[in-house]
Amino acid sequence: MATGVSAPGRAQVGLKTARSDKWWLAPLRIGVILLFFIVYATVRIFMNKWYWVDAYHYLTPLYSPCVTSSCVEGSSHLGTWFGNFPRFLPFSLITFVVLAGFRGTCYYYRKAGYRSLFFAPAACAVPEPHKAYTGERKFPLIALNLHRYFFYGALLFGLLNIYDGVQAFHGKGGGFGIGLGTLIIWINLVCLWLYTLSCHACRHIVGGRLKNFSKHPMRYRYWTFVSKLNPKHGTFAMTSLFTVILTDFYIMAVSAGWFSDLRFIN
Ligand code: FES
Repeated sequence: MATGVSAPGRAQVGLKTARSDKWWLAPLRIGVILLFFIVYATVRIFMNKWYWVDAYHYLTPLYSPCVTSSCVEGSSHLGTWFGNFPRFLPFSLITFVVLAGFRGTCYYYRKAGYRSLFFAPAACAVPEPHKAYTGERKFPLIALNLHRYFFYGALLFGLLNIYDGVQAFHGKGGGFGIGLGTLIIWINLVCLWLYTLSCHACRHIVGGRLKNFSKHPMRYRYWTFVSKLNPKHGTFAMTSLFTVILTDFYIMAVSAGWFSDLRFIN
């Protein structure tokens, strides 16, 4: 039986959509950005090289933490938990699972993905091509409910990124130093934390499941803070996507010797 706009009882308009504006532009733009990021991250994760600049202690967030014996010397801040990985396995497997899980189940990316990649629907008043609607009650989409757990993982990775950021104040030959790479790493850190703290799950964790705030003044304070960030979550999601790529690309380029780091101090 026909479903959606073709379901019995619905007015048979005979048009794909009555919208005459450029409704396809926003999903197209976001779709191109998402696909670019997916391809870029996949290539970089399987590259297994050019993720660490030993002279300045720059570690790309895509490889943090690097915890296998295969990681280049100096890049394993947390030590090595595993032996050598075969070439085809990403050294940053744990990072990939947690961060891909966090972004992949994010409410903003869900909206973006449904509109831009799955056309479900692509825009308001535009029928979707899918015949049936199952919501997020079945596998694999039911796994999107794991978002709150990925949030805890992302928090730990965020703390680790701060540690990496502090390490990046490393001068050539030791001592204190600041380069363009240090600034890029810290700009990315700020964007990543804005994205993480503005998360809907974070807002629920700090302020949810309470009958009233009067007995929980600290949680009310946290909730008020997160609530101010939360409406800009989509902006932070896209901005941090770009800053992650920029940081990774810069570190890759310096590590590969394509250009040198611009140094301000030492
Ligand atoms: Fe986007 Fe949680 S809703 S990170």
